[in-house]
Parts: sequence; structure tokens; C-alpha cells
Amino acid sequence: MIYSERFYHGVRVNLQREETTPISALIVGAGQGIGLAFVRQLLQTDRCDRLYATYRNPQSELLTIADARLRCLPLDLTVEDQIAATMQAIQTETSKLHLVINCVGILHQDSLQPEKSLRQIQSEQLMHYFRVNSIGAVLLAKHIQPLLKHRDRAIFATISAKVGSIGDNHLGGWYGYRASKAALNMLIRTTALEYKRTCPQTIVITLHPGTTDTQLSRPFQRNVPPEKLFTVDRTVQQLLSVLSQLQESDSGEFFSWDGNRLPW
Ligand SMILES: NC(=O)c1ccc[n+]([C@@H]2O[C@H](COP(=O)([O-])OP(=O)(O)OC[C@H]3O[C@@H](n4cnc5c(N)ncnc54)[C@H](OP(=O)(O)O)[C@@H]3O)[C@@H](O)[C@H]2O)c1
Repeated sequence: MIYSERFYHGVRVNLQREETTPISALIVGAGQGIGLAFVRQLLQTDRCDRLYATYRNPQSELLTIADARLRCLPLDLTVEDQIAATMQAIQTETSKLHLVINCVGILHQDSLQPEKSLRQIQSEQLMHYFRVNSIGAVLLAKHIQPLLKHRDRAIFATISAKVGSIGDNHLGGWYGYRASKAALNMLIRTTALEYKRTCPQTIVITLHPGTTDTQLSRPFQRNVPPEKLFTVDRTVQQLLSVLSQLQESDSGEFFSWDGNRLPW
């Protein structure tokens, strides 16, 4: 599945439901970066009549967006009780979500830096990558099920990374980030298989956004040619285009920003 340039213009939020039928969406990890750009672009369309967005930092720009359709909820994805409580809070207002995009991820944070060699491997650091990048997503998949058990078409997408592809790893380094994204891919692929029974209308996928200009990639952008460094707006347009073209048979797959399937 390859998408041509024409899909990149404008925001398309086509879940192949009636174009006029409103949808309810949830963006997890919307405090900055790609998640925040998803919120802004979804609010520019009239397809979304309810948008839930989670954040950690109360100083986030997200909380300055004034739109009656938006409800912001605090959530640390490493704390299962918070995930359960957030899903329950959403359930008090709606019984259905049609679009869920998990944008949570870390590559560096304070003293945590991606490992260049085995000498830098530390078990606590590896655990932290897994807690944030892998385990949070599958806990979300566990607790969100009641909101995806309905008869409308729905999408549950998680942002992964191409460097999590085992088959595509020709460079090495970044042990924790790579391994936690590879684990994420397996956890979400397995979720897709279970959801075929429990939430059969939900397409479950992982996405590679392409190198995008956010605080996550900023220290590592030096060797990225300008045409390969996307703005968050471009990334979100491209990913929404991929989502708009998904078929039921795509569930469980790992897609790049251009609609190509990536190797595991
Ligand atoms: N940018 C790229 O080039 C690139 C390339 C490939 C893949 N990705 C992936 O794309 C996704 C989005 O990244 P981004 O570039 O937008 O980076 P970002 O701007 O750093 O955004 C990451 C988001 O994850 C949230 N987060 C981190 N730890 C969390 C936790 N424990 N609980 C809840 N939220 C948490 C952050 O919240 P706070 O704002 O509170 O920190 C932030 O909203 C990530 O999964 C990343 O791995 C990015």
C-alpha cells in the first residue's frame, strides 16, 4: 500500500464511516510533539465531535487550547491505576471511541541517553524504556477495550519507530529504544489478534512517523537531510492519510508514514 502525494494535502479523517457521522477520538501523550499536533489538526476538522487528550505536564500548551469538544485528562502511562481511571472517566461521557492514537514515547530524558555501546547498558535505564515505550501501550490496550467494543469501525494506532524493526537494524546502537519499540510492535501485533475476537471492528496498528522535528529527535537531527526532517504538521497529515486508507485486513501491521509496510 503506497500513498501518493495527493493524500498529503489537507486533513482527512475518513474512517470509512459516513463522511458526516461524527467520531469520538482519544490522543494519548498529547502534551507536546506529534500528539499535540494530532489534537490541533483533529480540531480543525468537523468530523470529531469529542476529543479526549492526555498530558502529564500541567504547563503544556495543550491546556491553552479553547475548544468545547476537547477534554484534557492527566495521565502517566506507566501507572496502570491512572490508565484505568482515565478510561473510566471517558466512559462516564461516552460509550464509544472511533480513533485512538497513542503518541507516548521516550528516547532521552535528563540523564537517560540512548546507548551507543554495550558499555553504556544499565538495567534500570532499559527497564525505563520498556515501561514507557512498550508496557504502557499494552496496558492502554487492556483498559480501553470497553470503549472499542461497538459496531462502528474504529482504529487503535500506536506510534512506534522504524528503528524498532529487527529486520531493518543495520546500524546498531540505541539498545533500549530499539528493543522497547520492537517489544511494542510484538505487544500490539498480539493485541490485534486478540481484538479480532473481542473488538472485531477495531483495526490495530503501529506507525512509524518519519524523523519529525520534536524535542525527542532534536539532539539527533544533525545528519538528517532537511527534506527528511518533517514538521509535526506534515507528519500528522501523512499519518492521518495512512489511517484514512486502512482496511480491516491491515490490522496487526506496522506502517511507515508513506503507507508502506515495514519489516518486523
Ligand atoms: N520525532 C521523531 O523523529 C520520531 C521518530 C520515530 C518515532 N517517534 C515516536 O513518536 C512518538 C511521539 O514522539 P514525539 O517525537 O512527538 O516526541 P515528544 O515531543 O517527546 O512527545 C512524546 C510524548 O510522550 C509523552 N510521555 C513520555 N513519557 C510518558 C509517560 N510516562 N506517560 C505519559 N506520557 C509520556 C510526553 O509527555 P510530556 O510532554 O509530559 O513529556 C510527550 O507528550 C514517540 O513514541 C516516539 O518514539 C518519533
